[in-house]
Amino acid sequence: MRDYILAIDQGTTSSRAIVFAKDRSIAGSGQKEFTQIFPQDGWVEHDPEEIWESVVWSVKTALEDAKITAKDVAAIGITNQRETTLIWDRKTGKAVHNAIVWQDRRTAAYCATLKKDGHEALVTDKTGLLLDPYFSGTKIKWLLDNVEGVRARAEAGDLAFGTIDSFLIWRLTGGKSHVTDATNAGRTLLFDIADNEWDSELLNLFTVPAALLPAVKDCADDFGTAEVSLFGADIPILGVAGDQHAATIGQACFEPGMLKSTYGTGCFALLNTGTDIVRSKNRLLTTIAYRLNGETVYALEGSIFIAGAAVQWIRDGLKLVKHASETGPLARTADPSQNVYMVPAFVGLGAPWWDADARGAIYGLTRNSGPAEIAKAALEAVCYQTRDLLEAMRKDWGDSGKTVLRVDGGMVASDWTMQFLADILDAPVDRPRILETTALGAAWLAGSKAGVWPDMAEFAASWALDKQFKPEMDATTRDAKIKGWDDAVQRTLTTR
Ligand code: G3P
Repeated sequence: MRDYILAIDQGTTSSRAIVFAKDRSIAGSGQKEFTQIFPQDGWVEHDPEEIWESVVWSVKTALEDAKITAKDVAAIGITNQRETTLIWDRKTGKAVHNAIVWQDRRTAAYCATLKKDGHEALVTDKTGLLLDPYFSGTKIKWLLDNVEGVRARAEAGDLAFGTIDSFLIWRLTGGKSHVTDATNAGRTLLFDIADNEWDSELLNLFTVPAALLPAVKDCADDFGTAEVSLFGADIPILGVAGDQHAATIGQACFEPGMLKSTYGTGCFALLNTGTDIVRSKNRLLTTIAYRLNGETVYALEGSIFIAGAAVQWIRDGLKLVKHASETGPLARTADPSQNVYMVPAFVGLGAPWWDADARGAIYGLTRNSGPAEIAKAALEAVCYQTRDLLEAMRKDWGDSGKTVLRVDGGMVASDWTMQFLADILDAPVDRPRILETTALGAAWLAGSKAGVWPDMAEFAASWALDKQFKPEMDATTRDAKIKGWDDAVQRTLTTR
């Protein structure tokens, strides 16, 4: 029976492939890290060939690990780091430049000029986003203006733009499909999220030729066929969603008011607002949660640029631990009387501050501060930032007093961090049994479209709790800690 589903999760620091069996258990997986390229302060790039090779390697490894062949796979679901921008040649499939990664700040000055000239209201109105270098639009313009010959070739229709999903589909289908899904399109600054169309006014503003753009599909749709020459059998690609949207689906946050937060390289909280577009008054994003059968469901999103990346810095930059998993135990040994705060603005600050020029800082160091206090400050920073997002969401959406946060991603394995999160939020935190929610969401899109996996209701009913963390901290301690964090953020902002 051809009933396995293959999820490809192309993330910021690694590519992963997971083979799911029909009962949604994991049958096999493959994962490969790739190089992070930092050409200048605030710039981040990826080599497209290295990404492609890491994906092919991960898929082959996952199939081997599951002891199946491509002939056993019913469909592929793709999920990806969002906003990361690529332009490639339609004939050769070769990219004209490295991918410009979502964290890259090279277009900060251009964004500031657009803002000064009063363009932000139009952009936010149509896209739900803000004028920040985070999104693809200004990165596309940078490539058009700075890589020789690219603008002319783009205007002539020789080049294609895509986020990573689009590039992978192009490669998987041997150049037959130039497509993306609504969630990825919605992160480009070029897509009207109400009309569900590329917007000519925005294309003009960012001077992007329409000839570059992919067709936009539902998240569960026919995206083309991965060619037999790659893995040994043709496999239909039937699901695509940006990683945070796939995690929202994998966490079964299908009802308005349901909220998830994923702790990967960054941290992204999405609150399902149903078919209503809720406009944020508190510097959150409005985004497409998913689009199925032509119906768009929206979300409010809070985006934090550095979460797991702070732990990576503790490991690789400061070399305080050998493995990321040692960070929690190290933090637990910190001196509780010290008040060390880290504001991990390594690539600026995202929601709700949106300060592209801010850089990281540590406050409150004493002669007694050491690795444990710094590790603790890094983990706590992720929790304080989640609180900032949830506070903004409460103001935008209201609070029933029953907010429960579903969490996933590498960092949530740490009980210590999740308890601190519940304490600082003063709300319960639910950790599911399956932590691979991003891949699971992409697999559900493909699996349900292929008719192998159940419908939304049955899938949602199978979501299972591993552990609920309940707030235990007293209000006085919590308030004092939050005040210390707020002071630290204020001292770090360049826009204060
Ligand atoms: O918007 C960027 C996001 O999609 C990257 O996700 O998991 O690599 O932190 P992640």
